This record gives sequence, C-alpha cells and structure tokens, in this order.
Amino acid sequence: MTDERVRGMVLVVDDEANARRGMKALLEQEGFSVSTAADGAEALDQLASETFDVVVTDLKMPRIDGLELLKRARQTHEDLPVVMVTAHGAVESAIAAMKAGAEDYLEKPVQIDELVVVLERVLRNRKVRDEVRQLRGRLEERFRPANLIGDSPPMQTVFKVIGQVAPTRASVLITGESGTGKELVAQAIHQASPRKHGPFVKLHCAALAETLLESELFGHEKGAFTGAMGRREGRFKQADGGTLFLDEIGEIPMSTQVKLLRFLQERTFERVGSNETLKVDVRVIAATNRRLEEEVREGRFREDLYYRLNVVSIEMPPLRVRPGDILVLAEHFLKKYAAENGKPIKGFSPEAIARLSEHGWPGNVRELENVIERSVVLCEGETITPQCLPVSLNTPHRTVVRIPGSTFAEIERHAILSTLEAVGGSTTRAARMLDISVRTIQYRLHEYGLARRPSAPKNERKHSTGAQKTDPVV
Ligand SMILES: Nc1ncnc2c1ncn2[C@@H]1O[C@H](COP(=O)(O)OP(=O)(O)OP(=O)(O)O)[C@@H](O)[C@H]1O
Ligand SMILES: [Mg+2]
Repeated sequence: MTDERVRGMVLVVDDEANARRGMKALLEQEGFSVSTAADGAEALDQLASETFDVVVTDLKMPRIDGLELLKRARQTHEDLPVVMVTAHGAVESAIAAMKAGAEDYLEKPVQIDELVVVLERVLRNRKVRDEVRQLRGRLEERFRPANLIGDSPPMQTVFKVIGQVAPTRASVLITGESGTGKELVAQAIHQASPRKHGPFVKLHCAALAETLLESELFGHEKGAFTGAMGRREGRFKQADGGTLFLDEIGEIPMSTQVKLLRFLQERTFERVGSNETLKVDVRVIAATNRRLEEEVREGRFREDLYYRLNVVSIEMPPLRVRPGDILVLAEHFLKKYAAENGKPIKGFSPEAIARLSEHGWPGNVRELENVIERSVVLCEGETITPQCLPVSLNTPHRTVVRIPGSTFAEIERHAILSTLEAVGGSTTRAARMLDISVRTIQYRLHEYGLARRPSAPKNERKHSTGAQKTDPVV
C-alpha cells in the first residue's frame, strides 16, 4: 500500500481468513493494493463504495458464492474483471466460471507467481478496453446530423459546435454565403436539442415590411393596424417550447431590433397593439449572409442585439474551401435524385468528376444540388458524363485545387483526375505524366469509386489487375 507505484487495486474475496490474509500479504509484496472481503455480500458492499481494478474471488463460499458475486457485480460494474479461484481439478466449475464471464480462473492452491501473471494480463486488457471506450466516446461526441453531409475539417468543426450548443438555450448566429447550408444547420441544432419535439418555426425577415414583420413576430390585437381584422398570435408564440429561426436577420429594421433585443434579454414581449406582456420559452437561431459586424460598424444593426444573437456563432464554410466535400455531396444528391426520378444511375465518369471538382461553386451546396438534380434528369445511361452537366461547368474556367485547407489525398485526387482528363482517360499516359504506376492510378480510381469498368464483377477486376505484372504496387 505504501508503494507509490501501485500496480492495481485488487479485492480478494475468500471465506477462509488464512487464505485471505496470505494472499493479501503476498500481493502487497508484489506491489498491488489489496482489500479483502470474507464473503460475497461483504465484497458487494466494498464494490459499492470503492473502486477496484480486479476482483479475485473464491468460488465456493457460503450464502453468496463466487458465481453469484460475479453476476451481481456485473450489474453495477459492467466490465470489472473477476478472477475465480476454484478447487483443484474442478474442471466443471472452472468452465462454469468462464461461461459466467470470469476473466480467468486459478486452481487451488494458488501459486502467487501464477496469480501475478494473471493479474498483469487482466489489468493490461482492462486498460486497452478503457482506451477503446474512451476513443469511442470521443467519436460519438463528434456529432453529425443525419442529413448534413461533409467530411472536411471545416464541416467537422461545424458538427462539433452543433453538438455543443444543441443541449443549451443559447442563441446562435449562423453566417455564411448563400447556399452553404445555414437553414439546414439551424434545423440540425433544433433536432439535436431537448426541444426537438417542440415546434421549429421559421421567419424570413427580409421579405416583410416593418409593421408586418412585427406582427408576424409578436402577433397583433384586433385593429392594431389597418387590416388587422382579429387578434393573431405571432411566431414567438407559435415557437413556444421550440426554436424560432430568423432568416436574413441582417434585414430587420431598427425598431424591430429593439423589440427583439428585449425578448432576448427578458424573454417577454407584447402583441402589436396590446399592453399584455407575454412570456414564452423560445430558442432563437438567426442566420444572415451579410457581414453583421460591418452592419454594426455602419450603424445599421444594433451592437447589443448583435452580441445577444451571437452568443454562439457558426460560420458556414463556402464549398470552394472544402473541395473534399464536393464529391461526397454529389454522390449524396445523385442517390437522392436518382431514387426520386427512378433512374438507374450509378455514378460519375472521371471527366464529370473532374468538372465537378474544378468548378468554383459560387452558389455553394444549393448550386451543386441543382446541378446534380438536373444531370440526373438529363442523363440517359448509368453514368453521369460531362454531357449531362450544365454548360457553366463545361466551359473550362479552371480553378486549381487550393492547397491550404486541402488534404494531401484531395490534391492527389485532383492531380490524377485532371491528368486523366487531359490525356483522354489513358491511364498509361497519365501514369507517365505523373510519374506514378498505372496500378496506383487504378487503385485510386477504385478508391474513388471510379473503377474503369463499373459493371465488371469484383473478382474479375481483381483478376485482370493481378495479370499486369509490370507495375509494382505502391
Ligand atoms: N452539408 C450539407 N449536406 C446536405 N445538404 C446540404 C448541405 N448544405 C446544404 N445542403 C442543401 O443545400 C441547399 C441549400 O441549403 P440551405 O437552404 O440550408 O442554405 P442557406 O445557407 O440557408 O442559403 P441561403 O443563404 O441562400 O438561404 C438545401 O437544399 C440543403 O438541403
Ligand atoms: Mg437560407
């Protein structure tokens, strides 16, 4: 116990006092920290109040025996390893112990060397399991909403923030160019939040005149303004218990900004034309494709409101800075629209991929989605070729793959696909130009889901690559 480097915390359970004491002394000499219990019940008590790395228990004990102890311990300590000590030659009970989930067993009389070896192994296994569990936990933390596609680092950051803010009521400001997925992210936050069973209400702030906007937001009393025929509840009321998504927040007039600010500070508001103060539980998510800081600087947007809305901000990256997402998204939309249109389209030709990868996507994901939908409708075969793509993608307005922010794999893919395109699809010529082997190119195409003959069965393809002995695999 005094050793500063304890090898592990062991609970020894045996109804024989001598066996118990002996084992404790020997294990402590070996550097373990040891507690003892005289029977199963006492062991369970200790397990409830202390942390152990491993339990070594006698099988045969009065009242709660070793097997029963194992079973009960598992209910609260799912992966606490238990080593069972069985009578000499009692093969059946050893088997029973292992079946019940014991980590190992030892026969009496227990040899201390053997026990130490077993304990070392058990503790090592446990450490590995803990590490695996931690890693898995970390992976699960990296929340990704089902319909939000994107593997690129900037999108991973977006997913992470969504996961962090979703459980809270903090206001979120989502900024980014048109078509980058701001609304989708707002929905994802709602879906991942405890309010997901409440309403998700959306208001497009830009489209409405000032009075109408206020009435839409807060509701109005009968006769509050010309045309207000009866009392009407606003979006805040509709969104009670849920989320209100204010799109194009940069467009709201100053007077409405004041009222919105008050709501964010006090959670209260009045209908237009009413003195009755209403209180609702609404989470506000706002979006804009304007630079709000600039609007603040120019005096068009209240600074205090900006800070209230911007408790958490998410900046949606434009598609051109995450080229790695282009194909993932393209595949996603291809599947979606092929199914919707009942078309048997399987994928893209290398030339089509090159066009998609090189395009600048000023309209971001929305533009990509439209392009794919249109191509699916126009496409006749099983593969989307450049002929199915709109002219804008076919007039070479080449953008070189951006190096900062791209992974090496993306750069490599770009190099391979554009070279293939330049040489009319000849892998031999492309390989020579890139100074890599034909097989590397084939291997990569296979990885990109672009194997040369999409209809060839796997084993046949494997066979044909195996026949080319000239190029070593890289
Ligand atoms: N990461 C993504 N995964 C899947 N679909 C996406 C993704 N991002 C955007 N989309 C799709 O692209 C289209 C545009 O997205 P959305 O409407 O959310 O963009 P926005 O930023 O609100 O655009 P705007 O500023 O023009 O209103 C939608 O059809 C959306 O489903
Ligand atoms: Mg939008």
